[in-house]
Amino acid sequence: MKFDIPAGSNPIDRMTVVGKPLNRVDGPAKTTGTATYAYEHHREVANPAYGFAVGAAIAKGRIRSMNLTKAKAASGVLTVVTAGDVGKLGKGKFNTVKLLGGPDVDHYHQAIAVVVAETFEQARAAAALVRVDYARAEGQFDLADALKTAPLKGGSSDEGSGASPVERVGDFEQAFAAAPVTLDAEYTTPDHSHAMMEPFASIAEWKGDELTLWTSNQMIDWGRTDLATTLGMPKEKIRFMSPYVGGGFGGKLFLRADAVLAALGAKAAGRPVKLALTRPMIANNTTHRPATRQRIRIGASRDGVITAIAHESGSGDQPDGQPETAVNQTKLLYAGANRMVSMRLAVLDLPEGNAMRAPGEAPGMMALEIAMDEMAEKLGMDPIEFRAKNDTQVDPQDTTHRFSQRQLVRCLIEGAQRFGWSRRNGTPAQVRDGRWLVGMGMASAFRNHMNMPSGARVRLGPDGLVTVETDMTDIGTGSYTIIAQTAAEMMGLPTERVAVRLGDSAFPVSAGSGGQFGAANATAGVYAACVKLREAVANRLGFNSADATFADGVVRSGNRSVDLQDAASGGELVGEDKIEFGSLDKTYKLATFGAHFVEVGVDAYTGVTRVRRMLAVCAAGRIINPKSARSQVIGAMTMGVGSALMEELAVDKRYGFFVNHDLATYEVPVHADIPHQEVVFLDEVDDKANPMKAKGVGELGLCGVGAAVANAVYNATGVRVRDYPLTLDKHLDQLPAVA
Ligand code: MOS
Repeated sequence: MKFDIPAGSNPIDRMTVVGKPLNRVDGPAKTTGTATYAYEHHREVANPAYGFAVGAAIAKGRIRSMNLTKAKAASGVLTVVTAGDVGKLGKGKFNTVKLLGGPDVDHYHQAIAVVVAETFEQARAAAALVRVDYARAEGQFDLADALKTAPLKGGSSDEGSGASPVERVGDFEQAFAAAPVTLDAEYTTPDHSHAMMEPFASIAEWKGDELTLWTSNQMIDWGRTDLATTLGMPKEKIRFMSPYVGGGFGGKLFLRADAVLAALGAKAAGRPVKLALTRPMIANNTTHRPATRQRIRIGASRDGVITAIAHESGSGDQPDGQPETAVNQTKLLYAGANRMVSMRLAVLDLPEGNAMRAPGEAPGMMALEIAMDEMAEKLGMDPIEFRAKNDTQVDPQDTTHRFSQRQLVRCLIEGAQRFGWSRRNGTPAQVRDGRWLVGMGMASAFRNHMNMPSGARVRLGPDGLVTVETDMTDIGTGSYTIIAQTAAEMMGLPTERVAVRLGDSAFPVSAGSGGQFGAANATAGVYAACVKLREAVANRLGFNSADATFADGVVRSGNRSVDLQDAASGGELVGEDKIEFGSLDKTYKLATFGAHFVEVGVDAYTGVTRVRRMLAVCAAGRIINPKSARSQVIGAMTMGVGSALMEELAVDKRYGFFVNHDLATYEVPVHADIPHQEVVFLDEVDDKANPMKAKGVGELGLCGVGAAVANAVYNATGVRVRDYPLTLDKHLDQLPAVA
């Protein structure tokens, strides 16, 4: 189905199942431990051996020699595989760095060998016996230093974040110089780790030249294709499965070492191999969100109209890597006749940087939305009023293009009312509650919407059950549930009569899970397949498919009605299709908007910050399931608190690695850090987006939160910190006197 004109009314609009806060259909399987994650496919794979990855102990250089004698002789060891044993490996499209290194080493903990043994303990013990003689080379690990000479670089569009290195409208420099009120400030965000619960894990099994891989991956077809490229085999010979994924956040968008090492180890051992990366290896072996240094300049008239806005971002990555596209939102969020954004990319020898939840906007909003708060203060304006004043219904870089839906101002106003913003004291450091300095902060939320083609197959069996098959993944987001709701709505059945099968390369290729594009695009693909199935049903019944209706388990046309189940009594009916997109997303800007509100307390004596309450108001198209959407948003808000107050991969600039590579030292929020969260969705249907009229919320819930926390801390203390995370050492010596 080609979606190239705005959606008219369709069966989804009935909202009898879609739009309802259904519990997760996969909830019982998850809560009873019967949902099978990558490392747990014991029923399918008998007697697997265990793989253990060996990571490089230097960040840059060469392996002079490896002594594997002791490792190979160790108890239970079946084989040890290095790059020297496997011939030339290809490199997948989505990998910047080889997943099995050697003799050259590109980064610390790059995999350089896999040990396969009868048990996990034996593989781990033998891995410690691998002796490597390295020729260590100097590397560049200091972003600030490397950015001094780094070139301009545009973004990649593979994940939808396409961007040129410099974009200009009008004459920024002149308008900024002429503006009566200006801000020029630098903001820094650190490297972040995805820190998902389920580690990277795979089980590989070969039968002849055919490979079956159970793994934990957000994008089945990307992973399958890149695994085929890496191993130099046709992708049709690989079955790639991720039926359940315990979190990804972008870390599992791409093929990673666990899959390649399991496949190579299994081939060498002649046995199925299961391999999980240990937690201490994940931070340096896999990808991370790159640190940024961002300069923002804003010029405005005295009454708060932005006349000049510039956002320059610098980040680092391995050679041939990509910049963090932190300027994305600044192109679209606020009006202003004179504008400039640019990105620089430094070559670093740290592990590969790549997408992490809301790549681009998440760190970009952390900077921009502090800058907006600072600018409002300079103007003597309320920060909400300042933002509303610079709202725009058209793309500020190309004013001939309107947003399909843009309810930013409604989100700001609704949020202000619900949060009690009028009780905020705009003068910082005025409000005390016992030992706590109390402050309120807010930020706009913004995240682009991306269209992605997405396919599905829907079967109606003689038993009257509908089965949906698509390679879409559920990474904890609720895909199983919203796909069941979509098929149920289309076929006029309760969700109990719909089975959903996901995460298998045997099924039609879907949008996959990433960039908050999963829910809207994958359900639109299921919608398209259901349209085909409805036609097949109507044809079988001799109905005119254009006027057949599907409701309450019955198909009706004119004065005839038949139980849906009876349509398939003569044999299964199948509908298969995919949603594809025309140029509506060029005619209109498709994006999601919101507002984040945060109240914090800062301990007047210790400087410790505690979040007291949070609110998000989101306008993101039709909400397919308010319960799973809310879960997405509160999870994202929690991640935003982490990025504001605690998350930081500490770089060892001498040896070139992330020091705090476990969950004891890479801190993320826990329940006790998050006392109260509220989420509100504005009523919105976006008929320019897709037939579901839906967009996404998972990343919108994150974009802006970090700055809202930072702005609340400033309101509490009067100390402006522009360097994330806002740990107590950055403001303690400047807090108001307490005695
Ligand atoms: Mo998201 S960073 O595209 O999984």
